[in-house]
Amino acid sequence: MKRGYQESSSSASVEPPQSKLRYNPEGDAQFLEDESTKIFARKVADHYSARTNQTLEEREASPIIHLKKLNNWIKSVLIQLYARRGDAVLDLACGKGGDLIKWDKAKIAYYVGIDIAEGSVELSIDLLFFFCIEDCRTRYNGDADHHQRRKKFTFPARLICGDCFEVRLDKVLEDDAPFDICSCQFAMHYSWSTEARARRALANVSALLRPGGIFIGTMPDANVIVKKLREAEGLAFGNSVYWIRFDEEFSEKKFKSSSPFGIKYKFHLEDAVDCPEWIVPFNVFKSLAEEYGLELVFVKNSHQFVDEYLKKPEFVELMRRLGALGDGNQDQSTLSPDEWEVAYLYLAFVLRKRGQPDQTQVKGRRDKGKMHVSKEDIMSVGGGV
Ligand SMILES: C[S@@+](CC[C@H](N)C(=O)[O-])C[C@H]1O[C@@H](n2cnc3c(N)ncnc32)[C@H](O)[C@@H]1O
Repeated sequence: MKRGYQESSSSASVEPPQSKLRYNPEGDAQFLEDESTKIFARKVADHYSARTNQTLEEREASPIIHLKKLNNWIKSVLIQLYARRGDAVLDLACGKGGDLIKWDKAKIAYYVGIDIAEGSVELSIDLLFFFCIEDCRTRYNGDADHHQRRKKFTFPARLICGDCFEVRLDKVLEDDAPFDICSCQFAMHYSWSTEARARRALANVSALLRPGGIFIGTMPDANVIVKKLREAEGLAFGNSVYWIRFDEEFSEKKFKSSSPFGIKYKFHLEDAVDCPEWIVPFNVFKSLAEEYGLELVFVKNSHQFVDEYLKKPEFVELMRRLGALGDGNQDQSTLSPDEWEVAYLYLAFVLRKRGQPDQTQVKGRRDKGKMHVSKEDIMSVGGGV
């Protein structure tokens, strides 16, 4: 979709656009993705697939180790607040399966994880898709955590490789749906490159959740990023662990309210991220989600989230165990101010699918899930990026 900047808005909040394209309720657009959208989707996938697995020692030595632990705490709190025993879970952009243990603790009954990933150009097209999800498979099967051999996960899983912001997942997961809970952690912003992708993402979530089902997620906080951009001297800002840089086309630091998609910046986070990302104006996200029957339960910047949930004893204990703020004992190490500033760049949200849970509704079939997932079990969907 073309951008233009004739009008300007004085804040990061922009109104939902009047779509110039016609969409059906499932999010199908009579829309041809232009080449640049695919190139950027490929860049994101390339970046995540190229990341190597770290040993426990390497992980502990990371300059953002406390931030990683804090983010794990935030995701764990969201899961503990909303997941129920026996739930069927859809994990969009599941990455290397870093949340599997959290879901296991919540005693879920079924897990479907989807991620996109590409390898280097030397690899065959089949292999290109297999990196992140392959790591997720290894972790699920219990072959990953060498240092902490853990018991098997108690729920069957199904893993899928593909672009979950492009492919119609309602078709792919017809037999598995409906899901009780959908999670998209630190990834929803990759759908915001075009309106069609953003709609596809929300249409997928909506189509697969049961009425009353919950959508939890974390993503960059556009208000904070745009505020920092406007406070910066040039088009870049950051600290010792991250930087964000906008292109010259945003030199006026104004964003047209009618073009809230495709606002791209480059994000670098030491030892974690180095790829293009897109601003997600939260009020547009909220309105678009409502169009797909997803109502906002809450949105909180990570700082506010930590302040509020650290008042609850059970989550204080979880924080102590995860060690983001030290272990509450000998380990006095804690988040650096620079890591805390990065935490401020993110928000957590919860949405609920409209409608009442239908007691008579037939549960999704879980027979495609396996207790041991082999390479052949991983389904590849879509044409790739
Ligand atoms: C920051 S990682 C988060 C991974 C995981 N959700 C977590 O919290 O540990 C972002 C993930 O989004 C995935 N991703 C990005 N674009 C995607 C797309 N179009 N479809 C599926 N996954 C995507 C990346 O491959 C990567 O695994």
